[in-house]
Amino acid sequence: MSHEELINEAFKAMKNAYAPYSKYHVGACVLCKDGTLFYGANIENASFGGTNCGERSAIFAAYSNGYRKQDIEAIAIVSDGNTLASPCGICRQVLSELLEQDTPILLSNGKQRMDTCISQLLPFQFGESDLSR
Ligand code: THU
Repeated sequence: MSHEELINEAFKAMKNAYAPYSKYHVGACVLCKDGTLFYGANIENASFGGTNCGERSAIFAAYSNGYRKQDIEAIAIVSDGNTLASPCGICRQVLSELLEQDTPILLSNGKQRMDTCISQLLPFQFGESDLSR
């Protein structure tokens, strides 16, 4: 599957966003090396803090089905905003643990497009190795 096709799949996932509060819709799609796709969308909550971002929904779906970072080819994250849906800080932390450092992260809002990876988005990471003393 091409990067363009993966972005199109993320736009399909965006249709399932539950965002009655922000009205900002995010979709994500994880492409696994065996061709399996996992979809995610942002799911909001009246408590606000209970909200889950689209990219975390998608990567958690992949992990929940037994896939791990080495099985993942790329992730596309899209929004209907005027700017690219650059992953929030919490998502960057989560992706830093659940993706390989150089796995392509494809961002699009239908007008702008950027390809990046978690080592670019989150330098000087806190991770598992910091917990060993
Ligand atoms: N959101 C995401 O889904 N991903 C991000 O990385 C940024 C923010 C969602 C959360 C919330 O539902 C809405 O966008 C506004 O913050």
